[in-house]
Amino acid sequence: MTKALITGCTGQDGSYLAELLLSLGYEVHGLKRRSSSVNTERIDHLYADPHEANTRFFLHYADLTDGSSLAAILYDLRPDEVYNLGAQSHVKVSFEVPEFTADVVACGSLRLLEAIRRTGVRCRYYQASSSEMFGSASPPQNETTPFHPRSPYACAKVFAHQITVNYRESYGMHASSGILFNHESPRRGETFVTRKITRAVAQIRSGLQKKLYLGNLEARRDWGYAPDYVQAMWLMLQQEMPGDYVIGTGDSHSVREFAQLAFEAADLDWREFVIVDPRYFRPAEVDHLRADPSRAMNVLGWQPTVRFRDLVRVMVQSDVEQLEARLRGGEDALHQLALGEGRFA
Ligand code: NAP
Ligand code: GDD
Repeated sequence: MTKALITGCTGQDGSYLAELLLSLGYEVHGLKRRSSSVNTERIDHLYADPHEANTRFFLHYADLTDGSSLAAILYDLRPDEVYNLGAQSHVKVSFEVPEFTADVVACGSLRLLEAIRRTGVRCRYYQASSSEMFGSASPPQNETTPFHPRSPYACAKVFAHQITVNYRESYGMHASSGILFNHESPRRGETFVTRKITRAVAQIRSGLQKKLYLGNLEARRDWGYAPDYVQAMWLMLQQEMPGDYVIGTGDSHSVREFAQLAFEAADLDWREFVIVDPRYFRPAEVDHLRADPSRAMNVLGWQPTVRFRDLVRVMVQSDVEQLEARLRGGEDALHQLALGEGRFA
């Protein structure tokens, strides 16, 4: 049975990747961080009793800031594939906590690569690189576009990307980077702009929120659907040769367009509710990201399946349904049940 280790397993992408690998028959090991409140909501449905003989999903405490924990887990598990998705992944927050962001994103990736090298584990490695690395480079961006990072997060991702290339070239590791453009889903973190908008639409529709405060409405992003993107990660590690691939839809839209469509999906006019608040501006902005994913399409045979309009609709619908369930008390009851069972303790 192929064994995979995922850092960032509790995040949006980690949860979809764990689902994909389990569906392919893998044994999946995820890293989780100690926190004082439950941080496993996205993977609770994958939980299985580790005492059962046929269990294939396991969680381990570790942290990308703690190299010895990474080395110990690698040494014990000896995985065939390692997916490094763990990160302080919020660009705006990286301006507030630049040192921590660099420690987790840049040094964390180095720690993991070095732990693989030092333990002698023969595995394939995936690095979660980001279109943020392109920063102010003109669209469309592809694998040959020069990086011009515009935030501490993006600078840290450039280091993580380059050190992955360096370990591939220096030590012959099967190490690949996916340069992923923005990808969203109903599991997207609630402070990224898409989810912030779709949650607000649900709340406003139910009379629980009056206004939505946003920052730069003119920024353009290439927004895709997260489950499509974890498929690309897996495909990269199935190639005979490692390499770097840009993953995106090839279309871009503004934050304004996203907001307009999201409100329309609930029969609301966004102009009545959205207020621009400079508090959400960034010290340096990335104006326009749009992928040229030709290489991934030609070499990996990868294609996005969900386009912009459907993505917006799916996210609004999910947030409306979640809110309605919560208002009925159903979700809280389920959450309490999960806590009561003491799962993942
Ligand atoms: P996410 O939802 O923010 O998840 C990040 C994950 O990293 C969470 O599981 C988080 O754990 C974990 N993490 C944070 N700090 C850590 C630490 N010190 N040690 C170990 N784990 C840590 O991010 P995502 O959207 O799934 O993205 C996955 C990866 O792809 C990230 O590296 C991100 O930077 C990159 N990326 C994302 C996109 C995108 O559009 N989504 C695009 C390009 C690249 P907690 O749950 O405990 O916080
Ligand atoms: N978060 C947020 N909140 N962004 C806002 C807001 C707001 O209220 N108002 C406008 N924006 C704009 C931001 O200024 C940015 O230009 C755009 O919306 C997208 O912001 P985010 O959704 O926070 O994503 P991001 O593009 O900065 O970063 C995401 O994508 C990267 C890949 O390009 C993250 O997932 C990164 O981890 C990822 O690497």
